[in-house]
Amino acid sequence: MAIISPSILSADFVNLERDIKVCESAGAPWVHVDVMDGHFVPNITIGIPVVAALRKVTDLVLDVHLMIDRPIRYVEQFCSSGADCLTVHLESDTPENIHQTLKNIRSNGVKAGLSIKPGTPVEALEPYLVDCDLILIMTVEPGFGGQRFMGDMMPKLVWLKEKLAAINPECLLQVDGGVDLCTAPICKKSGANVLVSGSAFFKAQDKTAFVAEIQK
Ligand code: DX5
Ligand code: ZN
Repeated sequence: MAIISPSILSADFVNLERDIKVCESAGAPWVHVDVMDGHFVPNITIGIPVVAALRKVTDLVLDVHLMIDRPIRYVEQFCSSGADCLTVHLESDTPENIHQTLKNIRSNGVKAGLSIKPGTPVEALEPYLVDCDLILIMTVEPGFGGQRFMGDMMPKLVWLKEKLAAINPECLLQVDGGVDLCTAPICKKSGANVLVSGSAFFKAQDKTAFVAEIQK
């Protein structure tokens, strides 16, 4: 069974609490929070105060995706704001700092996630696999919701599934970008077990049925 993590990037920011409740009543166990800094990606979204505010109104797993430069600077603050899982990008800092970032996240009792952009080869993740609780494969260029799913990222999942089975079988495998009812089965078949969905989830007429179908 897969887990759905609806991305609140597609929620109504005036009504975030209401939309978190929409995720809850549809049966989603996680919620995905996209943090962008206008440097690592060409867009700016939300930050630490919003994560803390969401923590006050929900018990859903807060799955925080940091698309920011040198995230090591903010690990403590995101962890204490209530993130349950904190994912950083491999491309956002030096290898040494990425190792240290993952370590710092875990030492705060938070799940450590590592992500790669579409242009980054999956083999680049190899030195970090044992230090991660989640690997996120981007199936769009990070920065914006509502983009087209890149099916050619699927071999990355297949490669990771095999590697992780040998060295870190508990590690979750997440996909993010363009996930809907058509593309979700392809992701699951390739090994993904956590599926982020923004625009498709928030556009779905019957969100309970959408969640059930994705989590099948
Ligand atoms: C993109 C974000 C995604 C985005 C996904 O940079 O990381 O989480 O919200 O949105 P959809 O599902 O619309 O592609
Ligand atoms: Zn995301």
